[in-house]
Amino acid sequence: DNYCVIMAGGIGSRFWPMSTVQRPKQFLDVLGIGKSLLRMTFERLLHIAPAENIYIVTNANYFSLVKEQLPELSDGQILTEPERKNTAPCITYAAAKIHALNPNATLVVAPSDHLILKEDKFTEIVHTAIATANKEDRLVTLGIKPTRPDTGYGYIEFIEDGDILPGQVKDVKHFTEKPNRELAEIFLRSGNYYWNSGIFIWRAKTILNALEKFKPELFHLFTDQSGKYNTPEEQAYVNASFAACEDISIDFAVMENAKNVDVVLANFDWSDLGTWGSLYSHLEKDYNGNAVIGDHVHMINSENCIVNLPSNKLALIQGLENYIIVESDNMLMILNQHDEQNLKKYMAPMEEAS
Ligand code: GDD
Ligand code: MG
Repeated sequence: DNYCVIMAGGIGSRFWPMSTVQRPKQFLDVLGIGKSLLRMTFERLLHIAPAENIYIVTNANYFSLVKEQLPELSDGQILTEPERKNTAPCITYAAAKIHALNPNATLVVAPSDHLILKEDKFTEIVHTAIATANKEDRLVTLGIKPTRPDTGYGYIEFIEDGDILPGQVKDVKHFTEKPNRELAEIFLRSGNYYWNSGIFIWRAKTILNALEKFKPELFHLFTDQSGKYNTPEEQAYVNASFAACEDISIDFAVMENAKNVDVVLANFDWSDLGTWGSLYSHLEKDYNGNAVIGDHVHMINSENCIVNLPSNKLALIQGLENYIIVESDNMLMILNQHDEQNLKKYMAPMEEAS
């Protein structure tokens, strides 16, 4: 029985200042097409499960944003966290709750901040993954062919048996979350390493077993034995579990340790809109490679810049290459694109000061 879990509790800090803690990027229409990334994710998953089987896990502060953007959902389908503890607690909560409702549930766990084109291919690949996850107790992830030594992703080493073709299911040898640059370059050259898309498919039972094995504290905090899930006591129970649990991603908690991992080689157009640079390739550019949003921006001797300014802002930009220039509300950022992975780090002292 198919269920989807959309993780929508991140704050998108590498997308500042458009993405803010008040309104992170998954709630924004970053492409200017009239739909937020969350809305696009939800519509994509309607091909996998009916609306009543789609759950959102998010911070309590974003409950009303989710309701506004996904009016199809009942309140009970929006699972709220009192604090951010990364993706492992988020997934443990959703898996335990859905398992309490339906012990035969198979979950498609998806981030809310990706851009996926060619949706029919996506649907096909996910159905292959579901069949794999149901056949045996497998933890399945969708892999993307890497195109650069990006250090912001997990890398999946799969066993080479014959050809490497889209749609194939491969046994995973090792999973490395966010390697350093040197390793990422080696992985890229090897050919049998794919990026982890962050989309996971597994039976609720299988992921709970893996959590029990690798993160027993987390497992016990969320697998309530006294039947509080799906009762009025659920939120208080879960709030206490979040207060007590460790802050860790599912990649470090489970994927790096588990042996029963499979990867489906995906062939849909995928982009983790994690940074301004990753958005760049999806925007329209002028003949100098500048992607400009804003009605009164004059670019002179500038190349390959991303500019996103309020439409009433008259701006002159001269002599810049590979710069990201974004203004939103009372915030302005001017950042060299080569340095965008450091944005989180640069912002830390600013957050303390504000
Ligand atoms: N509910 C909830 N709670 N959601 C969260 C939380 C949380 O505390 N933290 C993050 N999320 C959501 C984000 O909104 C995003 O949709 C998703 O979980 C993934 O979190 P990211 O913080 O964006 O992870 P990442 O991009 O650094 O790394 C993951 O995704 C990569 C692909 O995009 C990993 O799975 C990598 O291995 C993978 O390559
Ligand atoms: Mg991400």
